[in-house]
Amino acid sequence: MRKKKLIVGNWKMNPRTLPLARTNFLSIKKAASAYKNVEAVIAAPFVYIPELAKLASAGLSIGAQNVSAEKEGAFTGEISASMLASLKVKYCIVGHSERRELGETNEFINKKIKQLLSAGIAPILCVGERDRDHGMLYLGTVKTQLEECLAGISKNMMGRIVIAYEPVWAISSTANRRDATPEDCQEMHIYIRKVLADMSGGTVADSVAILYGGSVDEKSAAGFIATGGADGLLPGRASLNPKTFLAIIKKTNELK
Ligand code: PGA
Repeated sequence: MRKKKLIVGNWKMNPRTLPLARTNFLSIKKAASAYKNVEAVIAAPFVYIPELAKLASAGLSIGAQNVSAEKEGAFTGEISASMLASLKVKYCIVGHSERRELGETNEFINKKIKQLLSAGIAPILCVGERDRDHGMLYLGTVKTQLEECLAGISKNMMGRIVIAYEPVWAISSTANRRDATPEDCQEMHIYIRKVLADMSGGTVADSVAILYGGSVDEKSAAGFIATGGADGLLPGRASLNPKTFLAIIKKTNELK
């Protein structure tokens, strides 16, 4: 069952150096352990993971932002799920819109999810529509993403998956972006849970954590959870400043 709220900082291709990554990670870790209702994770660039994993604790664990769709072998430049598992990586983001932009398809993401699950890493599957300008078609977009990315995954394994709803139009790096409201978030969270229930039954659907991501900051965080129904958050830009990220954790921790 979903208990603690999950707050995952997506550092993307930041910060610029390993010493800075260490400093930021340590200041988050120092304060995060006091917030018992929250599980905090930093999804770091691959090259920082070995160092940060040594510093990880029960209060702040380490995640990755991508993984190979293949198990092992001649795949130059790729990083496998078992390599990540050997560094105590607990979570891995897959299907982020910035990677879909590079050509990743639902079928490809499905292969990555299967690799992660067999290595014991929880996939954080990002779904979300590019815009809301075409009637209710955006619901269908997210449904297809869920059905294709999660095809062939057993009910047993489904409970280990985390879904992150990230409407592309609300992400901080999107040109002419606009804010999503807690109501936008709530509508899609209900819908995602329904799609999951149709795929795997109500009990499994209820056990899956559904996060919200897209320009979350310390002001908007509580609304996405309290009104929006999110089980946690996936802040990008706001996770780069330890103070802001900790403020998001604190606000979340205060919610019942
Ligand atoms: P943002 O990023 O909070 O900077 O919008 C979220 C994400 O892209 O995961």
